[in-house]
Amino acid sequence: MTATTHARTPSVGILGCGLMGAGIAEVCARAGADVTIVENDEPAATAGRRRVEKSLDRAVASGKLTEADRTVAWSRLQFGTDWDAFADRQLVIEAIPEIADVKVEAFRRIDAIVSSSESILASNTSSIPIMRLAVATQRPENVLGLHFFNPVPVLPLVELVTSLLTADGTATTAERFAREVLGKKVIHSQDRAGFIVNALLVPYLLSAVRMLESGFATANDVDAGMVEGCAHPMGPLHLTDLIGLDTTLAVAESLYQEFKEQLYAPPPMLLRMVEAGLLGRTGRGFFEYA
Ligand code: 3HC
Repeated sequence: MTATTHARTPSVGILGCGLMGAGIAEVCARAGADVTIVENDEPAATAGRRRVEKSLDRAVASGKLTEADRTVAWSRLQFGTDWDAFADRQLVIEAIPEIADVKVEAFRRIDAIVSSSESILASNTSSIPIMRLAVATQRPENVLGLHFFNPVPVLPLVELVTSLLTADGTATTAERFAREVLGKKVIHSQDRAGFIVNALLVPYLLSAVRMLESGFATANDVDAGMVEGCAHPMGPLHLTDLIGLDTTLAVAESLYQEFKEQLYAPPPMLLRMVEAGLLGRTGRGFFEYA
């Protein structure tokens, strides 16, 4: 995948197969890309494989995917733990947890492994400035943000984030991939913490947590207010559970660090819940999940 050849469907590497990595892997494979997914260890790779499998099953069950297309998409996915599998990839998308130092180190490592100097390295970061990741590599001109939204197979948006050093050709090639191959709607953001969507969304979610924390309203009423009164598909507290309280906190911290504005400061209730391991959909968050 180079800025000059404009390959339509690149070979893709994905680092991390959590909620976001699994969704990105699925949409890439369903769009025809050969996808290599790398996780930290075997249990994580197995859990990631299972996550993609379940989502493909769901797509078949709801009639969005035929059995035959499911089989083909599945055959395009390779799960493993060996980072060297990224060596021949034309596009690598990092989708690991929102911890800046860990992402920086991952970019340094991926850069040393990916052999073609023209391959593109992308991050699905929700909020960490792309420049911090780009300067960890020897190819900052080939680094950019491709930010997907959860659930990735359902939500059509990708935020494309260029740093001051991203080459125009890198942005054009990545945009063509997201738009023409994956069929996503692409919006462009400058390299500011939170980009467009999270800079708007996270203060709203934090306001809902503060409302609950202060006893202003119950969790059910906060959510019902936005679902029934504003036609949102889900209320802010259910959405925080879906995103993950740890991820929401990490994004709030990045935003607060960048702008030092009170509206981004994580409320104590969110901090305590994350410390308690109440992270949302994986078990318990503002609501309980079976
Ligand atoms: N994977 C694949 N498909 C899924 C899915 C998943 N995880 N979850 C739901 N779907 C599909 C279902 O199969 C269903 O498809 P169908 O209508 O063809 O049968 C459709 O989505 C609707 O699902 P449900 O009927 O089960 O449930 P809902 O109608 O309540 O929709 C929802 C669920 C799609 C999650 C919807 O509530 C929604 O869009 N919520 C808002 C999500 C949102 O705002 N996400 C952005 C988070 S911010 C982010 O990701 C950025 C990050 O940086 C923090």
